[in-house]
Amino acid sequence: MKKQNVFACILFTIFLSACFSLKKIGTGYSVDSVRNNVVNAQQMLYLMLQTANKKINAGDNINIYPRSTNKKGELFTTDLYEWTSGFFPGSLWYVYEYTKDSVLKYNAVKWTEKLEKLQYFTEHHDLGFMMYCSYGNAYRLTGNTVYRQILINAATALCTRFNQKVGAIKSWNSFKSRHGNATYYYPVIIDNMMNLELLFFASKVSGNDFFRKVAIKHAETTMKNHFRPDFSSYHVVCYDSIMGSVLTKETAQGYADNSTWARGQAWAIYGYTMVYRETKDTRFLETARRLADYFVDNKNLPADDIPYWDFNANQQGFIPGVKSKANNVSILYRDVSAAAITSSALLELSAYVNGSLGRKYRSVALKMLTTLSSNVYLAQPDTNGNFILKHSVGNIPNGTEIDSPLVYADYYYIEALLRYNKLLKGQPLF
Ligand code: GLY
Repeated sequence: MKKQNVFACILFTIFLSACFSLKKIGTGYSVDSVRNNVVNAQQMLYLMLQTANKKINAGDNINIYPRSTNKKGELFTTDLYEWTSGFFPGSLWYVYEYTKDSVLKYNAVKWTEKLEKLQYFTEHHDLGFMMYCSYGNAYRLTGNTVYRQILINAATALCTRFNQKVGAIKSWNSFKSRHGNATYYYPVIIDNMMNLELLFFASKVSGNDFFRKVAIKHAETTMKNHFRPDFSSYHVVCYDSIMGSVLTKETAQGYADNSTWARGQAWAIYGYTMVYRETKDTRFLETARRLADYFVDNKNLPADDIPYWDFNANQQGFIPGVKSKANNVSILYRDVSAAAITSSALLELSAYVNGSLGRKYRSVALKMLTTLSSNVYLAQPDTNGNFILKHSVGNIPNGTEIDSPLVYADYYYIEALLRYNKLLKGQPLF
């Protein structure tokens, strides 16, 4: 064969295999869709930065961390000790990663470093969210060794909440049951799985296996106590810290103790997928798979794959909806944050599971991403407090953040966009 023909053959083969891998991954949501949506996120972050930086310039250095909107639809912010303080810097880092926009990087550094004193914070379990989404991304993208030490210190602080007898990290200092007057002093919530990523990181960079052992033990204990036989999740499990035994299984943010709070299930899928990534222990992969199946095969998952705030919210014997204060009509609210988290998690899980199951997870993740990127859920600039996504639910039983934007919905949506972009380009996710 002539040299030119050999060359043409090679080009044709490369073209064919590129087409084949695109087909495998699905072509509905292309690199262009990702680019458009990250550019849109960039625009929203610029607008939000104007408001948030204005607060600092006006002398407020406390209640500055974007979280949601208030009743007037304006930006609602918190202090740094709220569990959500790391998501705004985290979103800045992700969009910087994609765009290389130096203004975003400048602000990502500024908003990350404002959290510095959290490295010694021990009052609740959310340090993993707060520090790994901010400093974790900062270290990954800059290699700044000061950030690495701050993350190790934060992991040390988080581990002060671990009790060997229980085999889990205590989430909150106390939990007041929604029935009766009982208060429990060793509550562990399913969300806590997310904080383990900080511990795996700290073990790797410090060489200290302790953090990793704590993370694995927590994941094992949660696996034992937090799931029903169908792999739906309880939100809160309360332990006896002396005996290590389970006292009660309840909910704080879901509809009922025995219902499945959608975001809790999302945290569980994401958490066990991540623990499998870090351990390669197939028990955790199997758990992630079963948790994901509960979500994606659920008959109460609406056709657009954006879940109601609780999987049992519209079932016989459960609540038919939540009354809207405005017109007293029963509304079955969606939770976009649960979809964003699950979409990101399923993209990762799809990379660990072969065959039709892997394809199923990827296609649900893609459908979620596509739906979230539609006008129904994506906000226009200068609306929605300049958060990217509409229609999340923070805490219905508490009457807060109902049908609102949430900073963490945006964070995991951007993360999912970046993950999908890597998959499209055949790049490893980690
Ligand atoms: N980690 C608290 C929540 O998901 O609302």
